[in-house]
Amino acid sequence: LSRMRIALDGPAAAGKSTVAKILADRLGFVYIDTGAMYRTLTLKALKNNKNLENEEELTSLLLNTNIELKPGVNGQRVFLDGQEVTNDIRSTEVTNNVSLVSTHAAVRKEMVRRQQLLVKNGGVVMDGRDIGTHVIPDAELKVFMLASAEERAKRRYEENLSKGIHSDLEILQREIEERDHLDSSREASPLKKAEDAIELDTTSMNVELVVNSIIALIKERG
Ligand code: C5P
Repeated sequence: LSRMRIALDGPAAAGKSTVAKILADRLGFVYIDTGAMYRTLTLKALKNNKNLENEEELTSLLLNTNIELKPGVNGQRVFLDGQEVTNDIRSTEVTNNVSLVSTHAAVRKEMVRRQQLLVKNGGVVMDGRDIGTHVIPDAELKVFMLASAEERAKRRYEENLSKGIHSDLEILQREIEERDHLDSSREASPLKKAEDAIELDTTSMNVELVVNSIIALIKERG
């Protein structure tokens, strides 16, 4: 059980990171948020006025970029070339550009290489879009988390509100749907349920219920 690798995939704002964090805490596993890695590269590219359509430019930028994920009190902390960017990578500008950066096959190849190094020793919960299909194709447990776009927008709206940020629900839903569309239609490792993943529609489930359902699956397999 302690060396298990759990792959958690699904569309934007489906609650993957909330659930992954709690699972990792309860199991004493390491939580790895792969979206944060794509976000960090996007942040650096925006800061350096890179052309986000240019695969070669972004790949060479990534090869010269150090991305570190460290456990923190409130979940994972993220460092870009030694500077903390935990909050900066959640900006609307990064969120609305990250899917474009993530379409490039050569960028993905390097990200997957780095992610595979992080799961080598097991005992991990990794969340993303292609974890079950490409990063850990032989994961001991794969879960594909879904929820309606409306419900996901509502959750993100409330999450923002709890941070004191007031957002427009309709715009949030549109941005989420746009990101899903780009993530699912790209050629290189699109967002897709792995054949052997267990689908969990969380539209009418609360966090506790989702966590408990996944723990039951882990016990079945561990
Ligand atoms: O998980 P999060 O919403 O932070 O991910 C941000 C974006 O990073 C996704 O919309 C997707 O474009 C990209 N991503 C990806 N593959 C992953 C994780 C994230 O393409 N494994």
